[in-house]
Formats: sequence, structure tokens, C-alpha cells
Amino acid sequence: MHKLDLTLEQEAVVRLNKAIVLCLDKRDAGTRELLEHLLGEEEDSIEWLEAQLTIVNDIGRERYLSEQLRE
Ligand SMILES: [Fe+2]
Repeated sequence: MHKLDLTLEQEAVVRLNKAIVLCLDKRDAGTRELLEHLLGEEEDSIEWLEAQLTIVNDIGRERYLSEQLRE
């Protein structure tokens, strides 16, 4: 639960960072700014997913899922 999402987000961060380097090389500031914005969102997602995985680890999957149903 959440582990596959985390892997996808981490792979996206690697791709975005490579693309940002390419934008710097090509002097494409507009695209770089767009990618940096997306990178920030991906990093926020990673932070949230890591926090959820810590909670699942701490309280157990069953209790975590029952807490999700209450919200
Ligand atoms: Fe994402």
C-alpha cells in the first residue's frame, strides 16, 4: 500500500531533474520553471507517501485502513 506510488513518484523526480538539467543546458527558462513546479509537487507527494508508510508501519495496515474509512 502506497509503496508502488512512492516508487513512481521517485522515478518521476529523477526524470524531472534530468529534464531540468537539459533545460538549463538549452537555456529554456520557461520549460524549466514549469518542470520545477512539477518537481515541487512530486516532492510533496513523496513526503506525504513516506509519512503514510510510517503510519502504516506504526499502527498496522488494518487500523490505518479503518482510519481512512472514517475520514
Ligand atoms: Fe506524481
